[in-house]
Amino acid sequence: MAKFLGIDVGTSSIKAVLVDEHGSLLRQASREYPLHIPRPMWSEQDPGDWWAGALDVIRELGEESPDAIGLTGQMHGSVFLDAAGEVVRRALLWNDQRTAAECAEMDATIGAERLRAITCNPPLTGFQAPKVLWLRNHEPEAFARVRQVLLPKDYIRFKMTGESATDVSDASGTGLLDVPRRDWSGEMLAALGLDHLRWPRVCESFAQTGVTRGVPGLADGIPVVAGGGDQAASAVGTGAVVEGVVSVSLGTSGVVFVSLPEPKFHSQGAAHTFCHANGGWHAMGVMLSCGGALRWFRDTFGKPSYDAIAAEAATVPAGADGLTFLPYLTGERCPHNDPQARAAFLGLTLAHGSAHLSRAVFEGVSFGLADGMALLRGLGARVDEIRVTGGGARSGFWVRMLADVFGAPCRTLEMDEGPALGAAILAGVGIGVWPDVAQACRSVVRTKSEVSPSGTDYAVSYAAFRAAYRPTANEG
Ligand code: XUL
Repeated sequence: MAKFLGIDVGTSSIKAVLVDEHGSLLRQASREYPLHIPRPMWSEQDPGDWWAGALDVIRELGEESPDAIGLTGQMHGSVFLDAAGEVVRRALLWNDQRTAAECAEMDATIGAERLRAITCNPPLTGFQAPKVLWLRNHEPEAFARVRQVLLPKDYIRFKMTGESATDVSDASGTGLLDVPRRDWSGEMLAALGLDHLRWPRVCESFAQTGVTRGVPGLADGIPVVAGGGDQAASAVGTGAVVEGVVSVSLGTSGVVFVSLPEPKFHSQGAAHTFCHANGGWHAMGVMLSCGGALRWFRDTFGKPSYDAIAAEAATVPAGADGLTFLPYLTGERCPHNDPQARAAFLGLTLAHGSAHLSRAVFEGVSFGLADGMALLRGLGARVDEIRVTGGGARSGFWVRMLADVFGAPCRTLEMDEGPALGAAILAGVGIGVWPDVAQACRSVVRTKSEVSPSGTDYAVSYAAFRAAYRPTANEG
């Protein structure tokens, strides 16, 4: 039976899974690496740490070589390479907020309307293109040495195969892709003065992009398939590759994701519209602090575990007796596109205790996801089935709250291995084990349990949450 290796270059760690044609997990390994915050709201990593981690997890998985490899990873990051293919400086990551001026520069250069028609999105601080402009504006000597810019997972491909290639879903998050045409926008590259750089070949997510060459621990000649950005690959792992199946991913960020048959985009850019890994398109709402807000609450208030927070939250009524939590600890992307947005507890009285704070945090991040769901519905997306995935899907309390907040049943998954599983499935499609991504998902992805709404009504608290946010982006 064929075996596929999926590698996910995450923000906190790199993860590898080996799965077979039935989607059974044979082996897995992961390695953490550091995240550098040189200034508040800046976020960087050393691509050399990703590659060292990749070699470690490959070594740990052992002798057996897979039949194909699929790659995925954190989206939007900028790996700057010189003429010799060496890293010029640390990569700027998806959650780095330093590039507001460069986003404005992109709008001014291309024209806001034209830019949105090409990329289906506004230029966002997290995207790759403004990071390249930032390097040119702030570190011109480093920029002068740059010959090509890669996304995080594509750097691993470059090291494994020597090929410069990317896939349509990840390339959509650069802000330089013509999303309807599924290729680089020559117009954007020329207007921004970036057309002298070498841009990786853009492929469909299930296309082969070369073979392994000289990777310690792997035979030469193993096909490496394009793969996808972590959100598109995660959607493959949950089966959100057909219309109507919505995946809700509960990680550091929180993402509500749906497949689209055509590239419909939100006129204000409040949702992202990208190419999907299934040959079509997708829309998603990305909130920056979801599980991240729970982690902050756990660590800052000395809570022993997420389960302890949930148990305490369950002791007070829905609505937390009028206490509202805004989860914008790292600014917010969707729906507000406001890097300056800040988190808050609102409505505190002497009657509120620790359990109310716990409940308000769970409700605040759930309402942020409800905002994402509303964006997708606003684009006319069908919502027939909701699949909850990621670390948070292990919390029965949270999944029940989501079913109530969305007013629809939520399903969890038999195998919840996240983007790495999606990358492994794409590897299988790439070598022809399945005819297409939808068929692969039908063979491999199985739902586990369904949680129905309990009848708890969150309408009043959600309205209070919506009313509590005040835009800060234009304040002097
Ligand atoms: C998606 C996004 C994050 C990163 C990190 O647009 O920014 O989900 O991909 O995982």
